[in-house]
Amino acid sequence: MRERYASGISDETAKKMIDLLNANLANVIDLTLDGKQCHWNLQGTGFIGVHQLLDETSERILEVSDTIAERIVILGGQPNGLASRVVKESILDDYPTDITEVDQHVRELTSRYKKVAETLREAIATAGDAGDEDTADLFTEASRIVDKDAWFIGANAPKK
Ligand SMILES: [Fe+2]
Repeated sequence: MRERYASGISDETAKKMIDLLNANLANVIDLTLDGKQCHWNLQGTGFIGVHQLLDETSERILEVSDTIAERIVILGGQPNGLASRVVKESILDDYPTDITEVDQHVRELTSRYKKVAETLREAIATAGDAGDEDTADLFTEASRIVDKDAWFIGANAPKK
């Protein structure tokens, strides 16, 4: 383990948190790429609003990945953001390449935000149970951001 800058945490807890943070990092990086894939490929009614919204959500989700990665370093770990690892460990499947319409993309991306939000919410409890309230708080903030953007993106889909 590298130097740990977070004090008052056992090696065991730090190791557990590093693994938990790295698992969520893969999901969040994958979600960031999905957001761009959506931003570039959607077409049709409502295009410009969603396209521009996705510039904002991209910035926010990138910030979430940065916060997660930096907490890993603070805990003495190594953030693993390699593309090969994201592909291997992300819970998300490949973003579909056969959809074009805004509402299809909005539903697709929203469901991905919700999946990642679920893992973040589980991580809040895991970190809290392990006694690392700072990491639990980080996941709480991340979860709140992802929930809100699930709404911002999802509310663009017409009601069925
Ligand atoms: Fe762009």
